[in-house]
Amino acid sequence: MVSKSSDTLGDFANALIHSRQHVSPKRLIAPGPTLSQKLEILNAAGAAPDHGKITPWHFYEVSPEGRNQLGALFAADLMERDVNATPTQIEEAKQKAFRGPLLLLATAKLNGDLGHIPAQEKLISAGCAIQNILLMANALGFGSGLSSGKALYSQKLRALFSLAEQENPLCFITIGTISIHKPNKARPDASSYSSVL
Ligand SMILES: Cc1cc2nc3c(=O)[nH]c(=O)nc-3n(C[C@H](O)[C@H](O)[C@H](O)COP(=O)(O)O)c2cc1C
Repeated sequence: MVSKSSDTLGDFANALIHSRQHVSPKRLIAPGPTLSQKLEILNAAGAAPDHGKITPWHFYEVSPEGRNQLGALFAADLMERDVNATPTQIEEAKQKAFRGPLLLLATAKLNGDLGHIPAQEKLISAGCAIQNILLMANALGFGSGLSSGKALYSQKLRALFSLAEQENPLCFITIGTISIHKPNKARPDASSYSSVL
């Protein structure tokens, strides 16, 4: 718990949490986070709840060369899945690798020495780490979006990122400046998803 609880902190947390919303990677443009902001964003993940302190997540930043490789992978994966894919669709698939100034792949590491910690606890930790990243990006004035897609689960992607056994790709995270702001979306009320035993 933070040492000083105050209305101000509560107001800040409310504003931070409720102003975050998914931004399509297409609407995330330069400038992206500086090096120190990127570290601040990645370090936020380290504050996720982590039973056994096993850090069951990993974030891979996709470099410019990595984007070329990932774009080729997206195109190849689409062509493999759909022999009728048009050149435009293949190019669109490829371009997904080039959206947004900062592109991360998030994974959950479900193996490890501490086998008594169930996979679902590790997944929860990884999800919390992702949310911390999204919230820190928001706090620094950036928008963010998560994306998945069939290629995420392909063997080719596992090979490209040299994923370990039982390391599961979860989603891509794109972070950047929001080009077009959209109104905040309505959220479900707590009464719809909480109750008392
Ligand atoms: C694991 C994961 C994968 C996602 N993949 C996609 C995706 O491929 N395409 C997309 O438009 N949104 C994707 N999203 C974002 C959700 O669509 C978005 O979070 C949802 O619409 C709710 O919006 P909000 O984040 O603003 O609350 C993904 C979200 C999660 C948690």
